[in-house]
Amino acid sequence: MSAAFSGFPPDGHGESRTQTGLLGGFAAEQLLRLCEVVELSHADATAYAQLLNDALGPVAERSLTLPPPSRSFLSDDHTPVEFSLAFLPGTGPGLRVLLEPGAGNDDLVENGRIGLDAIRTMADRWGFATDPLDRVEDLFFPTSPEGPLALWCALELRPGGVPRVKAYLNPAANGRDRIAETVGEGLARLGHRRAFDGLPPADAYPFFSVDLGDWEAPRAKVYLTHHGMSATEAGTLPRMSPHPGRERVEEFFRTAGGFPAGGAERLSGRPALTCHSFTETATGLPSGFTLHIPVRDYVRHDGQARERAVAVLRRYGIDGGWLDRALTAVTSRRLADGVGLIAYLALVHEPHRPPRVTVYVSSEAYQVRPPLQALPSHERAGAAL
Ligand code: TRP
Repeated sequence: MSAAFSGFPPDGHGESRTQTGLLGGFAAEQLLRLCEVVELSHADATAYAQLLNDALGPVAERSLTLPPPSRSFLSDDHTPVEFSLAFLPGTGPGLRVLLEPGAGNDDLVENGRIGLDAIRTMADRWGFATDPLDRVEDLFFPTSPEGPLALWCALELRPGGVPRVKAYLNPAANGRDRIAETVGEGLARLGHRRAFDGLPPADAYPFFSVDLGDWEAPRAKVYLTHHGMSATEAGTLPRMSPHPGRERVEEFFRTAGGFPAGGAERLSGRPALTCHSFTETATGLPSGFTLHIPVRDYVRHDGQARERAVAVLRRYGIDGGWLDRALTAVTSRRLADGVGLIAYLALVHEPHRPPRVTVYVSSEAYQVRPPLQALPSHERAGAAL
């Protein structure tokens, strides 16, 4: 069906990056190098690279000299792929990849059909059930869907060659005026009848997500958008019990956003997101809380974004060397030469686990956003890290 990924490219630099000149090959090579960084076996790496290429469907074979296959907002330059690293202290990072199986189809019906097919193909291959998705399918895939996406899929690339799968669905599928109803009904169908009413105030609900495959406690997740958020407000948003701690959430907000301790600054650009995850149906309360900061809108260049990420990692006892190696696996450009390689920083709280830090890394298959000019020194106070 597609090119086989038989081995690691010679190094992370230069012409090896454009070995194929095709979208799928480019992303798969990035993934191979990332697999090496997180110490997945060669067999797992090649299987996952092939899986990514296959899951992209026909756009995998699309030349990178053509424009992006569609206007997907999965990433800023419309690459339908984004990587992320999940860091816990004392162990190497977990590698994940987010992708749009229906990329290239602006028609949401077709895009969604391809996405569902891709997930069911994986379910057949690895023998997992798709119940949570089946239960909400008619809700998120109506006959005349609206909104900015149909289905995205994330794969957690664990050792052994069998990924854990997450499906991201579109709360606006039944129209913008029915978003709350759609999210509430989606949660209810998964047994979380009281969940929606317990969520904190939000400006928008961009994603609804379900875990599929071999999870200890599969989650239903709701993503909330919060415009103009301050550190203090961030600390009030968790609804999980026990609360992860206001100070901890505020501190992460400030470090990721580049704000001095004690200040009252708000995120004035791209909004922060929170994610509330539900695993049990008894209390109606979420069992997890994640704060996502779109760090790329609050730095001049990726060197600065990397500093922020490393500061957060250090705070949680994690060696920043993993991240540096991962960034080198994805791009050979200098970090100061662009902004957006690091898209988001996130702090994840789940019960009975230490906090987890997630760093989202763009593929930049199509475009590198130029860095911002340095601020004049008199304007820099407080704005820079
Ligand atoms: N690119 C989109 C955004 O910035 C969607 C997205 C991709 C996203 N990766 C993400 C959102 C990670 C939150 C966290 O919103």
